[in-house]
Amino acid sequence: MAEFFSPVGFALGAMLTLTVVILHYSRGTGWESRQDIAQEVLERRAETVPETDFPEPMNRSIGGGAPAAAIGGEAGEGAELEGEAVEEEVGPADIPDDEIEYFEVEFIKEGTTIEVPNNQPLLDSGEDEGMDLPYACRQGQCVSCAGQITNGGNSEDYVVHDNQQMLDDAELDDGYTLTCVAYPRADFSIKSGEAP
Ligand code: FES
Repeated sequence: MAEFFSPVGFALGAMLTLTVVILHYSRGTGWESRQDIAQEVLERRAETVPETDFPEPMNRSIGGGAPAAAIGGEAGEGAELEGEAVEEEVGPADIPDDEIEYFEVEFIKEGTTIEVPNNQPLLDSGEDEGMDLPYACRQGQCVSCAGQITNGGNSEDYVVHDNQQMLDDAELDDGYTLTCVAYPRADFSIKSGEAP
């Protein structure tokens, strides 16, 4: 056993052990773990996300979303588009009160002449005066309410049709009109219940 003992080896071993112990205590006593960087990382990531108009964090909640006021910009655009659509659909019935004109219309068969505003169809005006005039759809899509303007010339010289779909050019030239969608633009005489 004694022949295997080496003082040099023992000394080296002792020095190594001592070095390890010194290093361990010198690092261990002064070392502290790094601060938790989770918050720092989150903040850095948040800086890379573009700003939105929505309040945080409601826009990310399930079924939440921003209140209507927060999307006012888009709603405004929508309203503008709706306004444009409404403008396209303006017809004689939309003539404002301060621009209404009245025309004298003689209903020959009924033997009466009435004043008809240019924002009301002949059929409605005649009914308001107690006339029993023919009609079915009231939308310009049949000829049940047809009548013939007897002044001569195209019926549209005397009335504005709001979306009539039944009379062709020749029939209009013969004075035919659909009273449910016909608004006066001149004085004239008409025979009700006359279809082409
Ligand atoms: S009632 Fe049908 S077109 Fe006038």
